Amino acid sequence: MDIKKEIRRLLKEKDAVLLAHNYQIDDIQEIADFTGDSLGLSIEASKVKQKTIVFCGVHFMAETAYILSPDKKVLLPEIDAGCPMADMVTAEGLRELKKKHPGVPVVCYVNTSAEVKAESDICCTSANAINVVNSLDSDKIIFVPDKNLGHYVSRFVDKEVILWEGFCPIHHKVRKEQVLKLKEQYPDAVFVAHPECPPDVIDIADHVCSTSGVYKYVKESNKKRFIIGTEQGVGYRLRKENPDKEFIFAYENFVCQNMKKTTLRKVYDALIKERYVITVDEEIRKKALKSIQRMLDIPRNY
Ligand code: 13P
Ligand code: SF4
Repeated sequence: MDIKKEIRRLLKEKDAVLLAHNYQIDDIQEIADFTGDSLGLSIEASKVKQKTIVFCGVHFMAETAYILSPDKKVLLPEIDAGCPMADMVTAEGLRELKKKHPGVPVVCYVNTSAEVKAESDICCTSANAINVVNSLDSDKIIFVPDKNLGHYVSRFVDKEVILWEGFCPIHHKVRKEQVLKLKEQYPDAVFVAHPECPPDVIDIADHVCSTSGVYKYVKESNKKRFIIGTEQGVGYRLRKENPDKEFIFAYENFVCQNMKKTTLRKVYDALIKERYVITVDEEIRKKALKSIQRMLDIPRNY
């Protein structure tokens, strides 16, 4: 059978929509109804008309979709697709930190569990973190769990940012020396980095943005060669939209294994067996929704 056609047929039959993160394998991106970064996917999940959302990404993303659209059935085709960074902070750990800084608002990266979102004042993504932090009327904030994104934000806000010791194991591996070597090898190349990269890598970036921000930046640039400081999955759309441009990834095998766990076969099985259903306890969901909704309500200028 042509599995891609069959998935598309099943999606229609079951009144389902296929949402995929920019790091998903090429085959999944090709048949998805919508591909995007965490912010784009959250916005999309809040507007879905279909009965079912098949979410190709990692667990916290499907959970966020459910928090926003609890009347939908949200399916995560691979139940073991998690985000190691999201697992670096727990609600209990965050409560402890809050006790040490009473009254200080908490900004949580969307890469967190529903429980952590429920303990936070406002959520953010890599696309809107600076705007979110600036929207708070406080000279001090707690930022969890990504110390690199938090550090990046602290460069642009006139506030003290209390960081959590979390990081993305994939982006944290980017080395400044390696990027400098590539820049030397390709002096005409522009370096675009995701804010999950370490601070010394951000220091040498020509542009810093979310995964979908990379598409926009590259498309609008008249440069021909780019060093990409994020996961290889973005290469699919970059090559498709810019056949005349060249992309070099900041290190070899820049891959998030969790994002690659979802295969066409698993998407097919998810539709046939209607699995794995993602839900969140209603009390937690309502609290987590507040922090996500507060983020979505901020006027967008990006
Ligand atoms: P984006 O929101 O930029 O897609 O980032 C999500 C993520 O997990 C990056 O590692
Ligand atoms: Fe999590 Fe990093 Fe994978 Fe993004 S790339 S999902 S932050 S482990």
